[in-house]
Amino acid sequence: MGESKGKIAVLTSGGDAPGMNAAVRAVVRTGIARGYEVYGVRRGYNGLLNKEIFKMTFHDVSEKLQHGGTFLFTARSAEFNEDAGKQKAAKICKELGIETLIVIGGDGSFKGARDLSKYGVNIVGLPGTIDLDIDYTEYTIGFDTAVNTAMEAIDRIRETSNSHERVSVVEVMGRSAGYIALWCGIANGAEQILIPEKFDNDYDKLISIIKSNREAGMTHQVVVNAEGIGHSYGLAKKIEEATGIETRATILGHMQRGGSPTARDRVYASVMGAYAIDVIEQGKKNRLIGYKDGKVYDVDVYEAFDMKKDINAYEYEVAGILGTRCE
Ligand code: F6P
Repeated sequence: MGESKGKIAVLTSGGDAPGMNAAVRAVVRTGIARGYEVYGVRRGYNGLLNKEIFKMTFHDVSEKLQHGGTFLFTARSAEFNEDAGKQKAAKICKELGIETLIVIGGDGSFKGARDLSKYGVNIVGLPGTIDLDIDYTEYTIGFDTAVNTAMEAIDRIRETSNSHERVSVVEVMGRSAGYIALWCGIANGAEQILIPEKFDNDYDKLISIIKSNREAGMTHQVVVNAEGIGHSYGLAKKIEEATGIETRATILGHMQRGGSPTARDRVYASVMGAYAIDVIEQGKKNRLIGYKDGKVYDVDVYEAFDMKKDINAYEYEVAGILGTRCE
């Protein structure tokens, strides 16, 4: 064994997402293979402040790749949110000789990482959230698995909805973004998709379409409702009262966050985890890793926060055409 190239720590933060374990595994194994010492931090930024930090070996990440969740645990930290918390975290990294902190998490976790970098810790971010709501990247770890999980659930709901000739409102996660809802809307052939980026709050129009669909012979209908719009139970009641069609609401909730990651989430998380180590080796500072035009890439953390993305307008249009009865 040659001399260590330096110390890297890795943590998972914010809501867990299937594929986070694959990313940690890739960071640990690639880091060790390239001559770094890699440390795991338990319980996110909270754990960093409490020095829950341990040196990791190649074997510590065995049998992790195929499991959802995060074996490093995750937590939200009020203390780290404060500037004093970030200064304390930077001091701990310095004391332990940790030059780079790899943060696997969502937007909120990246804001924390960006602000920590001001105190001299090099940060590298890997996007881990089922919501896909990070602007600089086309892909986030966990989205694919969550969409597949929700899709399977909605297929089941459609079967019972069909038997009972009902309307089913199904609420999917996504915080204030509609990516999961849009994808499920297309994948499940939903008759209606309500997403915060597009829905105009015209519930009268929604109800009149549901009514005319029924008159045109649709025995049952599925409305995929994004969490960002919410109020699914109230919406179901409103639809039932206005149309006379029996209507039920289901909120899929945290089941969307669990489960074995899909091949796509395992592969992309692994590639991004390895790429994070490449970026460190190249001497780059304060980078976020993502996918752009289908390829893994890295971007400066400040530039990343200036980037904007939106729901794919064409996908939304297609979803509307495919879900609307037109003869
Ligand atoms: O960001 C992932 C996510 O699952 C969102 O879709 C949802 O709004 C939120 O986390 C739920 O957070 P919690 O696990 O704290 O209830």
